Amino acid sequence: MAKARIAVLISGRGTNLQALIDACADPDFPGELALVISNRPNAKGLERAGDAGIQREIIDHKDFDNRQDFEAALNDALKTAKVDFVCLAGFMRVLTNEFASDWRGRLINIHPSLLPSFEGLHVHERMIEAGVKIAGCTVHFVSAEVDNGPIIGQAAVPVLPGDDAEKLAARILEQEHRLYPACLRLLIDGKARLTGGSVVYDESVKGAGALINPSLA
Ligand code: GAR
Repeated sequence: MAKARIAVLISGRGTNLQALIDACADPDFPGELALVISNRPNAKGLERAGDAGIQREIIDHKDFDNRQDFEAALNDALKTAKVDFVCLAGFMRVLTNEFASDWRGRLINIHPSLLPSFEGLHVHERMIEAGVKIAGCTVHFVSAEVDNGPIIGQAAVPVLPGDDAEKLAARILEQEHRLYPACLRLLIDGKARLTGGSVVYDESVKGAGALINPSLA
């Protein structure tokens, strides 16, 4: 069967992009990376795309007078590349309701918290401050609001004594790199689908056990 064509939108270092590049390198993965778009000309992730031989484009939001024109340029590039699914991976621009509805069910994002808790910026600092004992990351369909939309998958990690934002971010990031390709695969395979406002899973999709912190042992 033909592979699904994936675009990844980035703004920065692109480690999640790298996880998707690595996943797509597996011949069994049902998707291929057709396009990487960055809204920042100097994003490190562009080098990763170049190294992997993936078509890349810079669409700098600063070159546009308004959000609609910026998004029209994004849409043009995505349509020209015949993209089936769009993954936001550290893409730090808010997208409009129109863009989100155009790509409804085919546009996903990763965020470094267990949404709906801790949406927005400075997530790791805020989690440390709040004293949460379990943190994690979320892959979700994108809706009009920032870091919001039906959840496809989450990974949880403990917050350990002595953690600072940097240590916690590294622990979460490791799981982001596992979760994002896994959720994308579910989506491409049709094993997770957006139906109405929620995500419906194929019966082959398994749940997981409890993470308790501090440990009961
Ligand atoms: C990741 O931690 C991702 O979850 C976060 O930005 C980082 C990008 O890192 N995204 C958000 O905060 C979205 N609200 P990367 O460029 O190395 O993938």
